[in-house]
Order: sequence, then C-alpha cells, then structure tokens
Amino acid sequence: MSSHPSITSLQGISFETLAREFDTPLYVYDAETISRQIQRLRASFENIRIKYAAKALTNRSILRFMKLQGVGVDVVSIQEAQLALLAGHLPADIMFTPNCVDFEEIVQGVELGLTMNLDNLPVLEKFGARYGGDVPCVIRLNPDILAGGNYKISTGHSQSKFGISVHSLDEIRTLVSRYQLNLEGLHIHTGSEITDIDVFMKMADILFGLAKEFSSVRYLDFGGGLKVAYQPGDGATDVAELGRRLSMAFRDFKDRESRELQLWMEPGKFLVSDAGFLLVRTNVVKVTPKATFVGVNSGLNHLIRPMMYDAYHTITNVSNPLGPKKNYWVVGNVCETDTFAADRELTEVREGDLLIIHNAGAYGYSMASNYNSRFRPAEVLIIDGQARLIRQRDTLDQLLAGQIDIFQ
Ligand SMILES: Cc1ncc(COP(=O)(O)O)c(C=O)c1O
Repeated sequence: MSSHPSITSLQGISFETLAREFDTPLYVYDAETISRQIQRLRASFENIRIKYAAKALTNRSILRFMKLQGVGVDVVSIQEAQLALLAGHLPADIMFTPNCVDFEEIVQGVELGLTMNLDNLPVLEKFGARYGGDVPCVIRLNPDILAGGNYKISTGHSQSKFGISVHSLDEIRTLVSRYQLNLEGLHIHTGSEITDIDVFMKMADILFGLAKEFSSVRYLDFGGGLKVAYQPGDGATDVAELGRRLSMAFRDFKDRESRELQLWMEPGKFLVSDAGFLLVRTNVVKVTPKATFVGVNSGLNHLIRPMMYDAYHTITNVSNPLGPKKNYWVVGNVCETDTFAADRELTEVREGDLLIIHNAGAYGYSMASNYNSRFRPAEVLIIDGQARLIRQRDTLDQLLAGQIDIFQ
C-alpha cells in the first residue's frame, strides 16, 4: 500500500521537496501506484476490461495515463466524455452512465459514439422510440441490495435513484422487444467501498440470469465499489478472491450456455485513491481548554470527503516524524465546521509543519471548489521519477472568469 503512514517520499522525491517546489496546498499523485492497481486487477480477473470511473479524478493527464495503460473510461456527464476524448480515448472505449439527465444529453452521447448506459425506464422508452435497434445500449440495473461504506455512497438499494429496478424486469422485457433494442451489455454499480464479496456474487446472479434471456448481451459490467484500506488494519476488498470467484462464474456460464461474456469493471477509488496525497502546511496550533486544533492552509473546499461522508484519511506529520505523540483536531480554514480529523493522534505538530493527507486521489480534487473564494490547489503527477505539474493553482483571473460586473 503506497499510502502507508510511514511514507515520506514518492519515487525518491520527498514530500518536503514537492512542497518547496510547488507550494502548498498541493495534490500529488503517484503513477506507479495507479499502474500497480491496474496490474492487480488484470492479474486477478480473467479477461477483464477496465473502465476507469473518471469522476474520481478527472485531470486530463490522468485520463491520458489511463489510456496509455490500455484502460477505458466510465463517464457520467457529456463534459467528462469530452475530457476523455481530448485525452485520446476512443468513443467506443467510453461508457456513458448518466442519471437524471435531459434526453438531449443522451442524444449527444449517441452522436459522440459513446457506449450508452441507460438507467431508467422513461429514457429506455425514448431511446427505443428514437433509435430502435440501430444504436446499441446497456441497461443499468438497480439490484435492490444495500451495500457500501455508508448510506450516501450506496447506490443499489431500493430507495436509491440509480438504475432500473430488478423488480421491473417485465417492463424491461417489453421495451426491449417493442423496440427491438440492441442490448449489448448489462450493468450494476451497487455502491462504493464494498468489502463483502457475496454482494458481487449476488450481482452476478442477477446479471447472468438476464444475460441468458438476452442473446445480444456481450458483456456484464460490475461497476466500481472496490475498497482500499484507509489505515493499517482497515478492511479492503480482496480482489484476488473476488477475481477468482467471478472468473469462475464467467467460465461456468460459458460452459453452460456455450456463450462467452466479457467481464467489465469501472473502479474509481481502487485505481487512484492510494495514489493521491494532499500536502498542507500548518498555519496555527491553537490550544483551547478542551482541544488542540491544528489549522492548515486547506479545507473542505479542497477535500470534502471527511465532512461529506465522515471519511477517514490517515494524516502524517512529515516535518516531525519522531516527535512525541499528541492528540489533535486537524481543521481547515473554511468558515464552516471544517474537520479533516477529530481527536487524532499525530506526532507533535508545530507551526509551519507539513502534513500529508493520505488517500486523497479519489474524489479529492474532482470534488474541490472555490468556496470562500479560495484557489484550488495545483496538481502534480510523479511519473518516471519526475514530478510533473499537471494543473496550475487557481488564480484571481480564474475566479473572475465568467463573472460580469453590471455596474462597471
Ligand atoms: C456508475 C459508477 N461507476 C463506478 C463508480 C466508481 O466507484 P468507486 O470509486 O467506488 O470505485 C461510481 C462512483 O460513484 C459510479 O457512480
């Protein structure tokens, strides 16, 4: 695991060097870790087709890196699709999985030549009426399974807005037959941070069951949701075991049905979470009668996961790794409750110390904002032993771009 708490450098470049060269707050990603995760998936699953869930980290150099690794992408908006195309992905390698979008966005996806993943019955009906079987499509199913790290990232339960319910199979059958749909794939994304392999096997039962009915189906997409450990001892999806069991299920299907299906997956976190670090500088150490706060030069505007999902991020003080241990509240500078870590044991933190927030690769920068009119951080990719700037820090001009002063 690259984000082990004792880590102080990436590919031989220390975090202190990175902070000095590029300033803080700074997002840093390690290309070697991303490659390693891709290899782990390829080694675990027979014939896997990986579609990186671009929403996790959308920087165009990362999208390009995925392309160079032979990985496709899953996108959830036309804009993500456009970024993926600019990064060199072929339309055929881009799965478009929008939800609750205007049908016009579906039409745009078709015009771009994307693989269209449809997630509700009205859209399936409109798609059929407009394209019939001329344009292939995928159906996203809602399996009625509650799984995932917490409720906000569970997408497969019956009260989730995502997918067409497995209880609506008759309606699906009717539409497929009425419009002679060219259904080439079936998809389920049950949620994020799933460690229970049986959840994926339940998904497999549903997907294989339907694939038997629809002979046009060529692939089954199991979505993302693979969990990585956020601290030593934390649970993680056993991808080797999952790969073994799912690969076996695909082989069984082939033996029984004399038909070979492809296995698709679209991980986000698994590929980039461990690879990313947010480097922040300590502005102030504030001692109150009840708590000691470490106020850093970042906040929920840069990394919202702790405040949004109660997500745990390991934090290390690389400026004072051998200092005595004390408990701190690590907080940001945004004018809301803005806590990265509550009552967390760290080696003693002094003003100016550099703290590293681990597992910041996924849903870090891609969820960042200019709240409080602060600049979003720069982003750096460590690749082939070199630190390469892949996005500049925001500027005042960027903050003002698009704004119109009507009183000028
Ligand atoms: C449709 C879809 N696929 C894949 C993912 C990636 O999930 P994860 O980052 O947990 O792998 C998501 C995340 O929300 C998603 O909505």
